Amino acid sequence: MPAVTARRKESRSALQPSCAYDAVVIGSAAYYFHWMRKATEFVRRNRAALAARPVWLFSSGPLGTKTIDGQGRDVCAVTVPKEIEEFREAIQPRDHRVFFGVLVRDKLGFAHRLLLKLPVNRDGAIFPLGDFRDWSDIEAWAGKIGQALKDSAGEAELPRENGALIAR
Ligand SMILES: Cc1cc2nc3c(=O)[nH]c(=O)nc-3n(C[C@H](O)[C@H](O)[C@H](O)COP(=O)(O)O)c2cc1C
Repeated sequence: MPAVTARRKESRSALQPSCAYDAVVIGSAAYYFHWMRKATEFVRRNRAALAARPVWLFSSGPLGTKTIDGQGRDVCAVTVPKEIEEFREAIQPRDHRVFFGVLVRDKLGFAHRLLLKLPVNRDGAIFPLGDFRDWSDIEAWAGKIGQALKDSAGEAELPRENGALIAR
């Protein structure tokens, strides 16, 4: 029976190579062009176990409604956190996606609330408040992961000889 386990911020936990996960989806908010420390540590700590199974990565970050920045660049492409290149090499994820994020004043710490008050952020120029998550985009991506897993489960059931598929 397929099952999904959702876990939060367990950077110190280990994903054993022999554990029952067929695949792993890991995401983090982006702050200052970086993944959150706990998420980064989780990937680094579990590098071998993650490299041995299919992994999908996502980052939650860009705010606002503009998908193209002032220089004509794709906002999701220019906000890819710095760690992703390292992760691509280390664990070869099937995919990494940047999704638009959410900024709620009440959830911010003191220092970040001060940032919002800076003159450069007048009218939310840099940090617009609001929920910019595109759930249809997120669900479509999750659906693709589900399909890829179904396809590979189907492949695993095909007859094999020494690991190679045998034509019927
Ligand atoms: C101080 C600050 C820095 C941020 N830096 C980035 C960034 O570098 N790249 C990005 O895409 N989003 C950035 N964001 C937006 C956050 O990643 C976004 O709000 C995210 O959805 C927050 O998720 P969380 O509420 O789970 O922490 C920043 C937000 C704040 C307040």
